[in-house]
Amino acid sequence: HTARFTVDPAFVVGEVDPRLYGTFVEHMGRCVYTGIYEPGHPTADPAGFRGDVAALVRELGTGLVRYPGGNFVSGYHWEDGVGPVADRPRRLDLAWRSVESNEVGTNEFLTWAKGLGLEPMMAVNLGTRGIDAARALVEYVNHPGGTAWSDLRVSHGVAEPHGVRLWCLGNEMDGPWQTGHKSAREYGRLAAEAGKAMHQVDPTIELVACGSSNAQMPTFGSWEREVLEETYDEVDYLSLHAYYEELDGDRASFLASGAHMDQYISDVVSTADHVRAVRRADKRIRLSFDEWNVWYAARFPGERNLATAETPRLIEDTYSVTDAAVVGSLLITLLRHADRVAVACLAQLVNVIAPIRSEPGGPAWRQTTFHPFAQAARFARGTVLRTEPDRTASRVETPRHGDVPALDHVVTYDEESGDLTVLAVNRAQDEPLRLSAALRGFGPGGTADAYEVLEHLVLADDDPDAANTEADPGRVLPRAVSATRIGADGELEAELPPVSWNVIRLR
Ligand code: AHR
Repeated sequence: HTARFTVDPAFVVGEVDPRLYGTFVEHMGRCVYTGIYEPGHPTADPAGFRGDVAALVRELGTGLVRYPGGNFVSGYHWEDGVGPVADRPRRLDLAWRSVESNEVGTNEFLTWAKGLGLEPMMAVNLGTRGIDAARALVEYVNHPGGTAWSDLRVSHGVAEPHGVRLWCLGNEMDGPWQTGHKSAREYGRLAAEAGKAMHQVDPTIELVACGSSNAQMPTFGSWEREVLEETYDEVDYLSLHAYYEELDGDRASFLASGAHMDQYISDVVSTADHVRAVRRADKRIRLSFDEWNVWYAARFPGERNLATAETPRLIEDTYSVTDAAVVGSLLITLLRHADRVAVACLAQLVNVIAPIRSEPGGPAWRQTTFHPFAQAARFARGTVLRTEPDRTASRVETPRHGDVPALDHVVTYDEESGDLTVLAVNRAQDEPLRLSAALRGFGPGGTADAYEVLEHLVLADDDPDAANTEADPGRVLPRAVSATRIGADGELEAELPPVSWNVIRLR
């Protein structure tokens, strides 16, 4: 297989918003308890948060974390999670039929996030609750003091307001599984009024309205339109969620999941812009892809069939090399839409469909999917450049998504340092892919002569199902390839193994 494309710094898609490298901590399974938080663990800090997990979160390079749900938030009383821990109630969480001890709540989470330099993105409960609980939470979290809710926070030992800027108005409210599921009109009205009250408390906050739970929902498209018709003036972002898995052994389609995500983003942008046109509005709604990942949902019994338990092991998927290539390709897709996608959260952060796994009292380790995320978060900064692929580029046939380019890629350019980063996935399972890229318009003479290949890092394996496990946490690691070079004609030349994730750095 071959693919060639042209890059030029004049062709800009948009800035890479660091919030594209977000993740998600939900009170679900073992994401919080025995994930980020485990008092008594040998690495726990005085507040009970695991040091080994925190070190991996740092290394992952995520800059933003969404909290506390997810489906969980639609039945959550945030007041249960503040104040003296001994007084906090144990509640039945309806979303995951789990017993929630409330040992970790708003202050513990926000203090942990701050310590790691993470921007929090909070969600309010618009399932079982509404305007009053939402505006009280914003007042508790963001108001300096001198009011009942803010003074309550101060009395809980948090003198300074947390200053949370980004807020989700509920979660997946179009889903019949959601506690307090609503029609688009019902939700849109409630979200607009809750958002208004939240803005009245703190005019500086930004709000995310719920889009569809996924692009396969029967109301997809009309849900987005109706919700925006109700909320357009109050909100800044509309959410998207998508999870992908290999179905019926169809790996070719699974590897092309990015093509589906790409269409989904374009469809939501069109729908949002339709509402904008009808309203003659100046403002453009941006997108918050606040849940995305690979999730083997087919292996999960579903929330209704769960036995009640405290801290159960829920959807602790173990990811393979193939899954890492798909996660990389989804990241590439998000970056290619940097003009409209401002926020994105890999769901979730620890244990629950997560790049980081941990065992109670035991170790924490990196899944295969950790690597593409960490490398993109570290190196794909600056602006996303629009590349022009040659028409002759190889394509791969897929049953679900038609024929797609074998090469999935994005290029970022850091104007300050001059660094160019190519993120690339070879979707072909049978053959390597020979990539060439014409670098146009860089440097004073408009040529790429000055560029050198700093490194080409590859995640691939003879066994595309290879995974990292507790017993063998280093089974799959990125490795450096030395043959990648800038040829005499000034073109970048590289070979990408079958089913591989690649980072090529030029300086
Ligand atoms: O991330 C797991 C779950 O997936 C979330 O709780 C929900 O929002 C989505 O359906």
